[in-house]
Amino acid sequence: MTFDHESLALLEEALRRLEEGYRGLPEPSSRADVRALREVLLSAAERLRDNYPYHHPLYVGQMLKPPHPIARLAYTLALFLNPNNHALDGGRATSQMEKEAVAGIARMLGWGAHLGHLCGGGTMANFEALWVGRELRPGKAVAASAQAHYTHARLSSVLGVPFHPIAIDARGRMDVRSLEGALATHAIGTVVVTLGTTAAGSVDPLAEILALRGRHDFRVHVDAAYGGYFMLAGNLGGETRRAFDRIAEADSVVIDPHKHGLQPYGCGCVLFRDPGVGRFYKHDSPYTYFSSADLHLGEISLECSRPGAAAAALWTTMRLLPLKPGGDFARGLEAGREAALTLHQALSKDDRFAPLMPPELDIVTWAVRAASSTESSAMARRIFDAAAHRDLHLALATFPRTMLEPAAPVTRWDADEIVCLRACVMKPEHRDWMAEILSRLQAAAGDACNAGG
Ligand SMILES: Cc1ncc(COP(=O)(O)O)c(C=O)c1O
Repeated sequence: MTFDHESLALLEEALRRLEEGYRGLPEPSSRADVRALREVLLSAAERLRDNYPYHHPLYVGQMLKPPHPIARLAYTLALFLNPNNHALDGGRATSQMEKEAVAGIARMLGWGAHLGHLCGGGTMANFEALWVGRELRPGKAVAASAQAHYTHARLSSVLGVPFHPIAIDARGRMDVRSLEGALATHAIGTVVVTLGTTAAGSVDPLAEILALRGRHDFRVHVDAAYGGYFMLAGNLGGETRRAFDRIAEADSVVIDPHKHGLQPYGCGCVLFRDPGVGRFYKHDSPYTYFSSADLHLGEISLECSRPGAAAAALWTTMRLLPLKPGGDFARGLEAGREAALTLHQALSKDDRFAPLMPPELDIVTWAVRAASSTESSAMARRIFDAAAHRDLHLALATFPRTMLEPAAPVTRWDADEIVCLRACVMKPEHRDWMAEILSRLQAAAGDACNAGG
């Protein structure tokens, strides 16, 4: 069976357990019209078939990871109450669950005291970190590498803050000398350090960037929306490990449970090292319901209503799979990384392909060897389509010449960027499926060569 149906029986049992907590209440009379529900629900099931098979190991395209069954169950269970984590009155139990889950993430980063909360996703989380940065360094700019997530430039513009893109090195990491040049202008207030870029999984050299704080005054915001949980992986390369080992020295960190934390979408997390930044969130609303002296999450987040169900799902997942090096959760990340290394090695041995660099995390990128950049891009597109015909779903990503030159995929540069193939090997099952993935990829490359030639 494609989806795990067995766990649904657990949902029924857990729902009864939840219901017992409200037994004393009179029965409400409204009942759903199950026949009407059935009809529309089945038509929704049919509509939903028009999706790539994100849940399946043959999907290695975008940064999509299926939620753990326990996260799905806990989320759905909580939905029967639909708590709102804006205020304790809206979500008493789930607010507590959120605080505990966020404290667990903070501990993973090496922080005891902290201020943090869940939010809609990485973009919202980064927005809050950049906003706090602006409040603390008014008039100063945000700097992020040219491979940082595109939303940093957009968020800076929303905040009315100048944005400085910083050059990258051949492996897609922030170039520290270029950053130092920008810092010398005294115009930079916050440096965004990406631990795991979206396109290639590159990890900016955090240790070297932190060292610049001796000479320049700036905040360090770590965008680890995708990469953050790799903190727990025992099989990172030396330089990558060195960056993760310094994460506790950042001023703020973003990490997305809805990427590598096995959660459904709608679960980002922002954390600040100094709990004192909570003062910027202070507001006085006559219509929200802060009715106790205890901290309400709505007092420390920019969004108002937020799903308590997301907190319930994350808390329950972390109970089952604690964030511990060597634990099952960490082993899942390590398995994906092993799969990525295997894929990279196989591509390196195939003379049709030019892998950009060994993967730092679990994203693999490669160009197709060709006479010119334009031909290489066209061939990548053909292989992408041919692979999809063989039910292998890859992604395409455009990379600049700086990142491509070491792999020398072309003899003639008739364009300064090349469309490459990209695989996000994020599921633990990818390790066992790699032989199948490779055989389909090789066959797709053959199909594309035949079609092209
Ligand atoms: C490094 C990084 N930052 C931020 C984001 C934006 O996160 P979201 O899509 O959850 O808003 C992403 C998304 O892929 C990302 O990879």
